[in-house]
Amino acid sequence: MSKRSKSSHRWLSRQRRDPFARRAASEGQVSRAHFKLEQLDRRFRLLRPGLRVLELGAAPGGWTRYLEDRLQGPRQGGLLVCVDPRPVTAGADTVVIEAAYGEAEADERLAAILGEAGVDLVLSDMAPNMSGNRTTDQARAMHLADLALDAACRWLNPGGAMAVKLFQGAGVDAWMAEVRKHFDKARLVKPEASRSESREVYAVAQGFVPETEG
Ligand SMILES: C[S@@+](CC[C@H](N)C(=O)[O-])C[C@H]1O[C@@H](n2cnc3c(N)ncnc32)[C@H](O)[C@@H]1O
Repeated sequence: MSKRSKSSHRWLSRQRRDPFARRAASEGQVSRAHFKLEQLDRRFRLLRPGLRVLELGAAPGGWTRYLEDRLQGPRQGGLLVCVDPRPVTAGADTVVIEAAYGEAEADERLAAILGEAGVDLVLSDMAPNMSGNRTTDQARAMHLADLALDAACRWLNPGGAMAVKLFQGAGVDAWMAEVRKHFDKARLVKPEASRSESREVYAVAQGFVPETEG
């Protein structure tokens, strides 16, 4: 058996054993990632109809589907903007920017869409392409976390919230200390749907306090 088919065999048998992957398939969800956001939302009450949400790292669209369901109803000025260089499965009311956050194209399009209105919630499930080198991968993951925090500081309205994927390792403590300078409260959590063998965790920060000028 080739190396590639061995690893896809491992992936398949893990999917079959994984209760959240089975639930995602039986409920017709885009991906099992859906359940992670659902668990964060239930615990921290992140979502309600009418919110303005910026979602970074949205492809293939598991979180997007959940967000569309939760933001439904009288939209009353609500908005969902998704950013990812890969294609995102999204409904007609969702704005998809097919570009990498941090590049000029994504920035210009976001500025044109959001204008002065900002958002109430920034979500980031961004993850780098893993090289297998732990030091390199951790540095790339922390760079994406920095981009997400920059997005929150730029686009969040006062009192807003963010939830950002991180990988436990070098840089996380310093990053959390930076987050606490901008939010009333911040915690690191691991949703039940996040695989136990993965270093993946989420930082949930609430009560954004914008920097005052001067
Ligand atoms: C774990 S997947 C996201 C899964 C998604 N939340 C879902 O529920 O389907 C990570 C995504 O981060 C995206 N990503 C990586 N760097 C990015 C960047 N700079 N800007 C936007 N998306 C990025 C990748 O393209 C990938 O689609």
